[in-house]
Amino acid sequence: MKLVLDNFTLVIFGASGDLAKKKLLPALYELVKIHDIKDNFRIIGFGRSVYNHETFRNYLGETFAQAKSGVACTDPQFKGFCEKIFYVQGDYEEASAYQRLKEEITLKAQNKQVCSNVLFYLATPPQVSALIIKNLNKTPGLNGKTGQCWNKVIVEKPFGTDLKSARALNHLLAQGFLEKQIYRIDHYLAKETVQNIFAFRFANTFFEQIWNSQCIDNVQIMIAEDFGIFERGRYYEKAGLIRDIIQNHGLQLLATIAMDAPKSDREDAIRDQKLKIFKAIHRMKEKELRNSVVLGQYEGYTQEKNVASDSQVETYAAIKFLINNQRWSNVPFYICAGKNLKKNLTEIVLNFRKPKYEYFKEKNCNFEANQLVIQIQPEEKINLKFGAKRPGEKMIIEPVKMAFDYKTSFTQKGLSAYHRLLEDAILGDQTRYVRKDCVEELWKIVDNIKTGLKNEKPIPYKPKTWGPKVLDF
Ligand code: BG6
Repeated sequence: MKLVLDNFTLVIFGASGDLAKKKLLPALYELVKIHDIKDNFRIIGFGRSVYNHETFRNYLGETFAQAKSGVACTDPQFKGFCEKIFYVQGDYEEASAYQRLKEEITLKAQNKQVCSNVLFYLATPPQVSALIIKNLNKTPGLNGKTGQCWNKVIVEKPFGTDLKSARALNHLLAQGFLEKQIYRIDHYLAKETVQNIFAFRFANTFFEQIWNSQCIDNVQIMIAEDFGIFERGRYYEKAGLIRDIIQNHGLQLLATIAMDAPKSDREDAIRDQKLKIFKAIHRMKEKELRNSVVLGQYEGYTQEKNVASDSQVETYAAIKFLINNQRWSNVPFYICAGKNLKKNLTEIVLNFRKPKYEYFKEKNCNFEANQLVIQIQPEEKINLKFGAKRPGEKMIIEPVKMAFDYKTSFTQKGLSAYHRLLEDAILGDQTRYVRKDCVEELWKIVDNIKTGLKNEKPIPYKPKTWGPKVLDF
């Protein structure tokens, strides 16, 4: 469906980084193509690296080409898009660089006599983001206090490195922008299969009645990747897997499964329910943490670029969470995530309890419990495993499955998460973005784990395996 989008300038800070090349540019290209926006947008890269408009276009064009089946900016198909890319070079702390940025933004807008709506995209580490926000706040025209046009700021994850830094970042943002102008990203929220969990749970009668501790024994959330940290040693040494994946993607998936139905269609309704779950997550003390968390590090991690030879940073974690509310009383939610594991797989498994009928027991008939498997990626599908009587005289029950697969059920392709998120931000819809109080609550959960386990050493595991042997929690 074509939407009417305001004209906009997307300013990317950290524009020569991986994210801009691999995710943002391809998503923008799709967005512009789908909505047939020809002249109503511009992209301005801002960064320390020395480029001019032309060399920056070539740089992005080449890398964009690699991601997009070998088509470069010189290709007529991409040419029009690439001509909308510009570059402003400067240090993040240099006030005059922001003046130059402002001139670049307003110049073209004045020429065309259009409003210069601006979407600032901070694809930068938290410390650099803080510096950028300070300078945006100080520069009239670049902060949130604009006239008829709008300015919005998107902040990539990780949003801070702990509660303290996240609060500081929130405070800083609030000095120049209103909450409705602030968009904190967790791209998992915009994945088609994650959004489908809402449809699956709340647009069907089947499951909501049994979606609780009476019927569900445990929930397992797996986020496995079959690759290491690539060139991200510097970042990983500070973050580790818990901050990189569990603080955001993992706990957001948990909340999507555990939350109550949103009470209305307000953009805050979902976030209100998720916040209740984040607040209800049981905070473990040190001893309990040691019994509920397994940390791992893949062999070879310490030889990666920019990684200390004696690094104790985790590249794998399995954590048992409990939720203190009536619906989930005593139901463990396991989140297991890791780098360099056996395969790429993001999946949520709900293991149901076995029915208590004596009938089957008397018949000496063993069978497996029901299982609901929601695969987020690489395949986009839902399987329900249940028991069926094997044909024949005896009552032998075997597991069979009912299956739904996006690939076979729908012909239209879903939008990429970044496409959807950029579109949301332009339209002003924050539903799929993380609210201030939610991000802070998430850090409280993670800070508690990190502090409690500060002396815990990760267990080594072989790459391309399922990680260290998980203890029986
Ligand atoms: C990012 C993490 O947020 O998500 C990466 O920083 C991770 O470490 C990536 O690889 C996974 O995203 P996706 O969409 O490929 O599952």
